[in-house]
Amino acid sequence: MDDFTASSTALVTCRMRAVHGRLDAAPIIDDPWGDTLVPVEVLRVLLEKMAPERLAIAGELSDAEIAAAADRFVRDFGPYGNVILRTRFNEDALAAAVARGVRQYVIIGAGFDSFILRQPGWAADLAIIELDHPASQALKRQRLEECGIAVPANAHFTPADLGKTSVREALSNSVFNPAEPAFFAWLGVTMYLTREQNLGTLRSVAEVSAPGSEIVFSYMHQAVFDSAGAGVERYDELESGVRAVGEPLVSGFDPATLEDDLASVGLQLLEGCTDADLERRYDADGVNKLQGFEISLIARAGPAGAP
Ligand SMILES: C[S@@+](CC[C@H](N)C(=O)[O-])C[C@H]1O[C@@H](n2cnc3c(N)ncnc32)[C@H](O)[C@@H]1O
Repeated sequence: MDDFTASSTALVTCRMRAVHGRLDAAPIIDDPWGDTLVPVEVLRVLLEKMAPERLAIAGELSDAEIAAAADRFVRDFGPYGNVILRTRFNEDALAAAVARGVRQYVIIGAGFDSFILRQPGWAADLAIIELDHPASQALKRQRLEECGIAVPANAHFTPADLGKTSVREALSNSVFNPAEPAFFAWLGVTMYLTREQNLGTLRSVAEVSAPGSEIVFSYMHQAVFDSAGAGVERYDELESGVRAVGEPLVSGFDPATLEDDLASVGLQLLEGCTDADLERRYDADGVNKLQGFEISLIARAGPAGAP
């Protein structure tokens, strides 16, 4: 991402979650905010850049037709199932952490994540800190304001370009207390950063992780980058779509060496899942046809040495 342009992929994933609630048979998450936060004029621009063929229909499209075309596009787009499954996995892990007594939730690369707006009762005592690229965070705050949506008192915003500022440094300017355990979510971000930035971010998370802390993060299989996506269904569409909005795919992790990578930065792997694992867990009968992405994975980790 450049210094000034907000993330478009964050708008796409936000809309995906709303589409899931409206169009899938038995939704596993309830997040309608993409219908409010991503307006039709934004959907039109996203389509023009990411899937212009969806607009190549004779005659002027109405707003309703644009919205319907965009909804079909995001539902067909490779990472759709992954976005839904990872959201559910993450928030289940968050709920378990809160039940254990964790009271800080840090959303790294939050984008248009709407947790602050749909907090369940168990989140009442949480301090929620959204850490994101300054341009993306500014756009989200602007959009919240335009929509007249009040930011809850327990939500805090901390801008940081992870290529320039560490998580520790960014959090030092917030209400975050490194002496207390925290839950970190880092979803749909690692693929846009270099391996050095990813390891640096994980190291920084480890540095501010009191015992009892956890991080959930999603990643793409490094083999995809090594083979330029050869043989991976729906990869070309993903790669060209995100590149078209200035967010090229950059790096991944190899699940076979993830444990060592995490150990090298002071973390230990607690759980690792593929999309197929998550589909079996959350959509066993396949009624939602989520079709997880074979190259998408998710990991849950905690500070090294914790029981
Ligand atoms: C695909 S969006 C994911 C948003 C959200 N986590 C979700 O799952 O919907 C990618 C996010 O990564 C953030 N991001 C990308 N590069 C970044 C950087 N260098 N520093 C901070 N955030 C970055 C973008 O601002 C954006 O919010």
